[in-house]
Amino acid sequence: MSVEVAKQRILQRVPLAALIGETVALTTRSGRQVGLCPFHGEKSPSFTIFDDHYFCFGCRARGDAITFVREMQGLSFLESLRYLAEKFGIDVPELEHPTHDRQARLTEANLYKICAESLSFFRERLHASNGVFALEYLETRGFTREFIDQHQFGLSPQEPQFLVNHLLRKGFAIKDMITASVANSSQYDNKAYDFFNQRLMIPIFDMHGRAIAFGGRSFGDEQPKYKNSRETPLFDKSQVLYGLHLAKEPIRRDRRAIVCEGYMDVLQLWQAGIPHAVACLGTALTIHHLRRLAALTPRVYLIFDGDRAGRAATLRTVSLALEVPQSEFKVVVLPEEHDPDTFVKEYGVAGMEQQLETAQNLLEFAIQARLMETHDLGVPDLINKEFVPWLQSVEDPVRRQYLLVRIAELTGVPAADLEIRVKPETAKRVAASRVEAPPPPPPRPKVIELKGAELEFMGHLFHSRPGEIDLDGLEQMLKTQLELDELWLDFALELTKALRRNLVPSELNKSHWTTLVIPEALTLIERLERDAPLYVTAARQQQLEKLAKEVRRKALKESLARLKQNLMRGTAEEQREILAAVARITKELNAAGLEVRGANS
Ligand code: UTP
Ligand code: MN
Repeated sequence: MSVEVAKQRILQRVPLAALIGETVALTTRSGRQVGLCPFHGEKSPSFTIFDDHYFCFGCRARGDAITFVREMQGLSFLESLRYLAEKFGIDVPELEHPTHDRQARLTEANLYKICAESLSFFRERLHASNGVFALEYLETRGFTREFIDQHQFGLSPQEPQFLVNHLLRKGFAIKDMITASVANSSQYDNKAYDFFNQRLMIPIFDMHGRAIAFGGRSFGDEQPKYKNSRETPLFDKSQVLYGLHLAKEPIRRDRRAIVCEGYMDVLQLWQAGIPHAVACLGTALTIHHLRRLAALTPRVYLIFDGDRAGRAATLRTVSLALEVPQSEFKVVVLPEEHDPDTFVKEYGVAGMEQQLETAQNLLEFAIQARLMETHDLGVPDLINKEFVPWLQSVEDPVRRQYLLVRIAELTGVPAADLEIRVKPETAKRVAASRVEAPPPPPPRPKVIELKGAELEFMGHLFHSRPGEIDLDGLEQMLKTQLELDELWLDFALELTKALRRNLVPSELNKSHWTTLVIPEALTLIERLERDAPLYVTAARQQQLEKLAKEVRRKALKESLARLKQNLMRGTAEEQREILAAVARITKELNAAGLEVRGANS
């Protein structure tokens, strides 16, 4: 139940009013903070902050800090936990590797120690007498002594087993050195050798400032120019952004992040006085990188070296950026021969700031880059072979339509023509979905275990086959009607997503489900697999609808009970509002035929 522990710790430590106060202007009324509800339009405030939750007497939106972040930023349950932990500086080791057993944790602790020991070893080598040439190299690249110390640059020695022997003397096992990627085993003589030789060592830190990997730059022209640690249990390149542990504060404070292509770019920008720079390490940007940044700032600049801009800002990056709508992504392309390192040296901070000011919108940049690389007569091909398949890959109809219109504007092809190509019937559905108002967010209970109708509902969803159920209706229901716990909502939506791709959830490998980092979810799947015979039915859709009604009824009743409990404690004004809410819920119960006669007192 480690996630539950993390959740409770976060809920205890996050100052709810401060969090909400960032987006909702709060005033005090009869001792409580109130504001205009962000979930529905209103003119006088009925959105009220209580000690551990908020409640809107107007639309009945109810939730805690986690729910608030989910609703306002569109993050998943786990992402919301991470977001809050980072924002309020709460340590949540549980979230890093929630499924690890004891042995794995011990190894992990050793890996941190090995990295820390290697870091101080490399630093000593740099400042030893035969490290002078490396210090001179750093000088030619414009780094001050102070900066070199502060950022803990180092040197890996030429001797093939210097570090391995050093670590052996410190009591570390060769197997762990290899896992930490500071040593390699040789197939020829069964010995272990240092992973890095004769390189300038740039340590890579995690968000808590612990060394987890290294980048090693060659001196001179030796290839490869950079040798980076392999991926290890501590170092996942798709997650780590170089420099984020130091850049996160400035990024949050000044509401901007600057993503570069290389280590040196980040370091030079920092030294020049632009502390918002980070880089991804030898991989393309991933959704994890973008979410991490979006949790800190509403604006992210992607800076591309002059010579490879077309390659770098791809339609794929745009697709990823669409998944984090809370941040705006802008693109800077430096002059042909420059990267941020050389650019800031030549034009200074002022020159860099000017580049940022004229940054282009990512979407437009990516589309225009493709158009510019294509001659006029090639454009129809580009549309059919790249833009149309890309549009089809965007699942959310509103986003798809938005992109479609922008492409139409930029290419001059009428939007209607694009729509027909993307898919005739989707086009109609998209048009319809554009006029729907966003549904009010559902209140959520705190329990984590699924039982009764909720469990059965999930079981039927899990054993559904593509085409058996109305997915649009079901997703709507999941998001607005059912009040599943966050984790289970994530999982249910993962199931519908698979069904949309014509996959059979119950036949998929477990690794397909990202929700499975949570042990409770694994237990659930195993149970549903065991209980498969219970979920054989010819009327899947009806079963799901019936169960959904039942779940809804239960949730409304719980809401009622909670309200009635609060009734006696409130001020006269609050009591009036609570009574009104009670009346509304009772009406909904009756209207939907949800009420079971005589069951309510
Ligand atoms: P660059 O070639 O632009 O390097 O590669 P750089 O950061 O400007 O370094 P200097 O200024 O030449 O010293 C950009 C990034 O791509 C990765 C590194 O992360 C590098 O910072 N890279 C590059 C490698 O991993 N291996 C390589 O051989 C080259
Ligand atoms: Mn460079």
